Amino acid sequence: SDSVYEVIPFHNAKGIAFDRHIKRLQKSCNSLSISANIDLISKEIIELINKSKFKDGYVYYQVSRGVDQIRSHMFNADISTETFGYVVEHTFESQSLKVMLCEDVRWQRCDIKSTSLLGNIMSMNNAKNSGCDEVIMHKDRVITEGGASNVFFASNDCVYTPNLSKNILPGITRELLIEKIKASGINVQEGSFKIDDLKDAKSIWLTSSTKGLAQVIEITNQETNIVVDHPLFLECEKIFKNNFLS
Ligand code: PDD
Repeated sequence: SDSVYEVIPFHNAKGIAFDRHIKRLQKSCNSLSISANIDLISKEIIELINKSKFKDGYVYYQVSRGVDQIRSHMFNADISTETFGYVVEHTFESQSLKVMLCEDVRWQRCDIKSTSLLGNIMSMNNAKNSGCDEVIMHKDRVITEGGASNVFFASNDCVYTPNLSKNILPGITRELLIEKIKASGINVQEGSFKIDDLKDAKSIWLTSSTKGLAQVIEITNQETNIVVDHPLFLECEKIFKNNFLS
């Protein structure tokens, strides 16, 4: 799993926040000293979108360190990077999710979008076996993120989300949403929040490039006061869709 990846959504055959995804991919490569020809990669991603003829979808693109002569944790600096990508047709329809809270068992550099996702995989499949669609992870009760998404919640006319740190991926959807809802006058606070804070939340949602904003309708292992289709969630979703999916 010595590789990094991106999931780049597109709408009307045009990448959503394309440059930000490319920038994050470059950053992931830099963090792991994986050399990548980012201009070529950008061209390949655009070509994948154009050739697919899909209107809406996403591109999965992976950059691996490459094949070494011997299996060693200490890689040779002169091996060549390997890349691959594919396109998936996808519609960004609203989803409602049943989630489970779980301890975050991942490593300490979750800010890098690497394919080392065993912690996420174990937790998400555990949740799946209990009939859930996603997880909300926490470190000693402090909320980190979803298994493949960032977490938001709303109460008292304010939107809250965990601040960026090495424990979460700096989600592009998260970033875009914060920018746009702040600009429309909604109060947003980034900070350190506990899973107990979710008990009072009137709305909880998860964000990602493939899910957009997905409302949480139930946390199976904690009581909540969620109001499905809460006006503040609907407002945020509307702002996001108007800006990026219309
Ligand atoms: N996952 N946190 C994690 C752990 C993620 O895997 C993702 C996205 C996000 C949201 O990031 P963004 O808004 O940039 O998509 C947060 C992608 C979609 C995936 O692995 O399929």
